[in-house]
Amino acid sequence: METPSSHIVVKTPVLDAVGELYSAHGLDRKCVVLFDENTRRLFGEKVLASLHRQGFQTRELVVPARETSKSLSSAWKLYGTMIEADVDRSWNLLCVGGGVVGDLGGYIAASYYRGIPVVQLPTTLLAMTDSSIGGKVAINHPLGKNLIGFFHLPELVLIDPSFLKSLPSREIYGGMAEVVKYGFIADRSFFDFLDRNFDEVVGFREPALTEAVSRSAFIKAEVVEKDFRETTGLRATLNFGHTFAHGLEKLAGYRNLRHGEAVAIGMACALFLSRRLGFLPEAELAEGLALMQRFRFPRGLVAKRFLAYDSDVMFDSMFSDKKKIDKKLRFVLIDRIGHAFLHGKDVEKEAVTGAIEEAKVWFERKR
Ligand SMILES: NC(=O)c1ccc[n+]([C@@H]2O[C@H](COP(=O)([O-])OP(=O)(O)OC[C@H]3O[C@@H](n4cnc5c(N)ncnc54)[C@H](O)[C@@H]3O)[C@@H](O)[C@H]2O)c1
Ligand SMILES: [Zn+2]
Repeated sequence: METPSSHIVVKTPVLDAVGELYSAHGLDRKCVVLFDENTRRLFGEKVLASLHRQGFQTRELVVPARETSKSLSSAWKLYGTMIEADVDRSWNLLCVGGGVVGDLGGYIAASYYRGIPVVQLPTTLLAMTDSSIGGKVAINHPLGKNLIGFFHLPELVLIDPSFLKSLPSREIYGGMAEVVKYGFIADRSFFDFLDRNFDEVVGFREPALTEAVSRSAFIKAEVVEKDFRETTGLRATLNFGHTFAHGLEKLAGYRNLRHGEAVAIGMACALFLSRRLGFLPEAELAEGLALMQRFRFPRGLVAKRFLAYDSDVMFDSMFSDKKKIDKKLRFVLIDRIGHAFLHGKDVEKEAVTGAIEEAKVWFERKR
């Protein structure tokens, strides 16, 4: 069976095998390669040279390195460039970059000529462990993020952790939030591994880095495989910490706050909420917080983007999260490290704001 995980290859250097991998997956060696300005500068020559050596025909697309590139207007422009370059259904699209390039490229591939294959070559920690896997592709609408899109599984996800070496520290810790998330929601032994190897992973030292990236990618793929269209509640557990995070991101106007930073804060809130509602034992809360203690964010970020907001204001902002169903807030909670579930019942506002307040006190002490 074709499954998300059978398409993931984690390897250094992954590009040397790209021709063979394409053949094995029945893809033509005709690639539109999408970069952002940074990934073009950092990896463009290397990627294109490797493709050409292996007999690929290529066309190149470059977008500005920012979230606003995930828009209908930039997709529209790129469709035009592709049509003019005679790209037809026999071509595929290779996305070289973070989640912005992956989501935009996936969206274009899902729609161009009613759909061409997409291959992901993620270059951020977040993209390697999260956004490149699972086939959710989207652009933003002025009224909300990721609202217009498709489920379009990548034919291949080519992960080479050595691409991470140039990543700035904020992006490392941001991606690390999603990595730690997998430990919390799905795998106690992975959590323990991260506890022992946190500094190795954020320092990009091998073999810890490749192990962390690869275990994260496969945990995500496994969850997606079991609940592709998010109907049973399992895929929703990937949103651990995210109800809080989305509220914060919204309050911050999506500026000066990386998604992963919001997720790290959101997970601390979700840990406190899990304990408050009687699911998470005190000792496991302490263990969870001890790992969260290792995150390093820019000075003042937490103060300005979390501590400064009143918990009532944050609650209201969470309420406008698009992921709520029937105007109810849904929370992903854990009842032990390594097991998450979607809480079916309404949660009292006081429990939520109380958890936010506890997380604030914890962050205040951590600083
Ligand atoms: N589709 C999904 O399931 C899913 C899941 C999570 C997030 N997302 C989306 O992902 C996006 C965020 O992705 P992101 O965090 O990767 O951000 P990003 O794509 O904006 O990349 C972050 C920055 O790092 C730069 N960069 C990329 N690779 C680099 C490297 N190796 N070295 C140095 N710099 C590098 C980029 O140019 C950019 O400036 C959001 O739009 C979010 O909505 C999608
Ligand atoms: Zn996330």
